[in-house]
Amino acid sequence: MPKVTVHRKAHFNAAHRLYRKDWSDKKNFEVFNKCSNPNFHGHNYELIVALTGEIDKETGYVFDLGVLKDLIKTEIEDCLDHKNLNLEVAEFENLNPTAENISVVIYSKLKQHIPNHLDLKVTLYETPRNFVSYSGE
Ligand code: NI
Repeated sequence: MPKVTVHRKAHFNAAHRLYRKDWSDKKNFEVFNKCSNPNFHGHNYELIVALTGEIDKETGYVFDLGVLKDLIKTEIEDCLDHKNLNLEVAEFENLNPTAENISVVIYSKLKQHIPNHLDLKVTLYETPRNFVSYSGE
């Protein structure tokens, strides 16, 4: 059967600060500039989750997008939406919440619920022009 990629878009708002606890405020500011603002700042994150695999002969689906929608809600939106990533999300207690690291965390949370025969790719927009993608390498 042909291999097809299905996509689901999602959205969450979150606050963060780019900051390493083991660096001085001065060094954090030198490296992360205004993104290290101690009072945090927010982003409207846009998330695209892509699953690639063969079309199922019976259903005609690669993966049920309704199921994927619910998975993104319970695993990602409920955990990250309207949160302060540094202070409220355990994964970032000791991990700098850059778009890169957030994409890896999202990938890991979703991966355990996605059938093994499908390839998962996460694309995360931090701003309309800045985005990252991760597919598990
Ligand atoms: Ni930021």
